[in-house]
Amino acid sequence: MYTTYTGQLVRIRPFRDETELREFCTVQFSMLNAQFGDCRWRIDDAVERYRLNLASGLETCFAVEQVGKGKHVGWVNARPQRDQLAGSIGTEILSEQRSRGYGREAKLLALCHMFENFPLHSVWAVTLGNHRRSARGLEAIGMQRCGCQRVAQYSQGGHTARIYYRIMREDWERLPIREIVRRGHRS
Ligand SMILES: CC(C)(COP(=O)(O)OP(=O)(O)OC[C@H]1O[C@@H](n2cnc3c(N)ncnc32)[C@H](O)[C@@H]1OP(=O)(O)O)[C@@H](O)C(=O)NCCC(=O)NCCS
Repeated sequence: MYTTYTGQLVRIRPFRDETELREFCTVQFSMLNAQFGDCRWRIDDAVERYRLNLASGLETCFAVEQVGKGKHVGWVNARPQRDQLAGSIGTEILSEQRSRGYGREAKLLALCHMFENFPLHSVWAVTLGNHRRSARGLEAIGMQRCGCQRVAQYSQGGHTARIYYRIMREDWERLPIREIVRRGHRS
């Protein structure tokens, strides 16, 4: 199995250890963005999930780094489900590194990891009804809106929907990223 994928802008690779993950989460989750607000509770949660997944899990939490410089700019989580032929991805880029295309490419690389290493038929992502920026990114990489849970999440002082996006294996097979991606570690 490959766990390191490199595109034109970013490389994804598993977090080195719990300390690196905790340092990243401490910066990222004090204020994720206007939609999600204060997410400090996720720091311990992320570390706990990392421990569980080292022992027996399928989920990989990838650090996203700039190609060339190796600067850590975010993370992308990839979760095949134990009892399904579907999985999900989730991306978070540090606020000062957003709007440079890193989020979109990190998602595309995570899709390569998911479809190349697991017999998945589809990969899903979820965002909030008031988070157009995230929806634009998901649509830009070829994911399609597939459904919504209304009034599902507290956000910005009210309730908003959770919107589900999906890409099928045959649609991923047609994406240009497959020709560009470099698999495996290269220093
Ligand atoms: C949502 C999130 C992951 C998007 O990450 P990002 O790196 O800022 O987003 P992208 O890589 O998609 O950036 C694309 C934007 O940069 C622009 N861009 C600049 N250079 C680019 C390049 N080389 N390639 C692609 N887009 C580029 C695009 O035009 C696009 O602008 P637009 O959104 O106005 O259309 C990020 O904002 C984030 O982490 N938010 C907080 C956590 C969160 O909400 N995560 C999603 C959970 S649902």
